[in-house]
Amino acid sequence: MVAGIVPAVILVLRLLRDDLGANPAETLEHSTGFTAIWLLLGSLTATPLRTLTGVAAFTQLRKPLGLWAFAYAVMHIGCYLVFDQSLLWGEILGDIIKRPYITVGFAAFLILLILALTSPGWVVRKLGGRRWKLIHRSVYVAAVLAFFHFLWLVKLDTTRPMLVGITLLVLLVLRVRWITAPFRSAPVIPSNP
Ligand code: HEM
Repeated sequence: MVAGIVPAVILVLRLLRDDLGANPAETLEHSTGFTAIWLLLGSLTATPLRTLTGVAAFTQLRKPLGLWAFAYAVMHIGCYLVFDQSLLWGEILGDIIKRPYITVGFAAFLILLILALTSPGWVVRKLGGRRWKLIHRSVYVAAVLAFFHFLWLVKLDTTRPMLVGITLLVLLVLRVRWITAPFRSAPVIPSNP
């Protein structure tokens, strides 16, 4: 909750103090995109943290952080649609088709949208655990696409997207069963003892 609200509060405060720099629209677009990608990575740390520590409560972070990531992605795309494209749908479609970084960003967003729509409890029950799990594994595809979106849009200094890429790689490696096998034997500490 805090991780999701704090970046928005900071942005609103900066907006009210007229402190968003020379190009406030660009600052809003960049900050919301940057927050979305890190919240997405945050949601992906939940399972490895549970595996490595045996604390089941970490799993409870996955859904809220994922939904917050989606919320920031919506704000981010909202900035793009309104500020960059003035809601000119032909231009937007052209961008999605012709600019690879927009194409992968759009694909990442579609996956996040599907994951958000299938996150309420009643949808999970309707889909069944196995199907739901299969669908929700695509969060890793969304994160990889978001990484390429970030990497391809940066023109000079790739430090920030590379940091995202390295974090994502570590998180993917930690999902490999045999790598975390020694930790899996540790007892899981339930969230509600
Ligand atoms: C339809 C989908 C999307 C569109 C049209 C879009 C568009 C954009 C645009 C126009 C920029 C600024 C590019 C520049 O100034 O050169 C940007 C930056 C960025 N976007 Fe997206 N984006 C989309 C989806 C996403 C998603 C799903 C994520 C993350 C989950 C994301 C994360 C980022 C990041 C991290 C940046 C760079 C921010 C920075 O420089 O600090 N975007 N995006």
